[in-house]
Amino acid sequence: MSGVEHEYIKEYIESLMCDHQGILGEMEEYALKNSIPIVQRETAGFLELMINVKKPLRVLELGTAIGYSAILMSLSSNKKNHITTVERDRNMVEIARKNIKKYEFQQCIDIIEGDCLEVLKNIEGQFDFIFIDAGKAHYNHFLPYCLKLLDEEGIIVADNTLFRGMVASDELVEKRKITIVKRMREYLNIISDHNKFITSIIPMGDGIAVTMRRS
Ligand SMILES: C[S@@+](CC[C@H](N)C(=O)[O-])C[C@H]1O[C@@H](n2cnc3c(N)ncnc32)[C@H](O)[C@@H]1O
Repeated sequence: MSGVEHEYIKEYIESLMCDHQGILGEMEEYALKNSIPIVQRETAGFLELMINVKKPLRVLELGTAIGYSAILMSLSSNKKNHITTVERDRNMVEIARKNIKKYEFQQCIDIIEGDCLEVLKNIEGQFDFIFIDAGKAHYNHFLPYCLKLLDEEGIIVADNTLFRGMVASDELVEKRKITIVKRMREYLNIISDHNKFITSIIPMGDGIAVTMRRS
């Protein structure tokens, strides 16, 4: 299993999806060639669906890498939303900026270079969609900031929350990943508080958690 699904199920679902052409296809190829971790194909499909259902106007993303998921979310809204995305790796920021320019998303996507833990303290305004895809050991630390930035009916989508199954089973936990697992469990425990949140944890890709406030 590459994520948390059985390989045969993943392959079957992927066989039903059409290959991305154009911008996304090119970026997927680049990521594959250069071993850059971008969202898995099914997760990309899920994000596209979420953007079309929720139609957020202000999106915050933690973890830009080469800008693939940011461009995907912008394309999914026909460039109608605005995306702020945070990345700490200078090399990634450079590549993402080049892609944003090359594919003409300068009006739709802003990159903030820096560590999410620092950047989140200084971001202003409200977002109606937050995608967390950076720093697996810090989702629990990002959450209070994200909740402050999330408007009343906003949605948080977090990727990698089952982390290769380790979060769900002690037997799978690798020693050097213990901190990530403990903190990810803490994140999931907080968002599973039924009095405060409505959360669905989906065993797709590497585990996606979708959360909104209970009104
Ligand atoms: C999985 S990749 C993001 C992939 C991207 N969302 C996509 O699908 O196209 C995670 C990125 O988060 C960045 N990152 C990790 N920890 C971070 C942190 N604390 N603050 C900012 N960026 C971080 C890494 O450098 C990496 O580029």
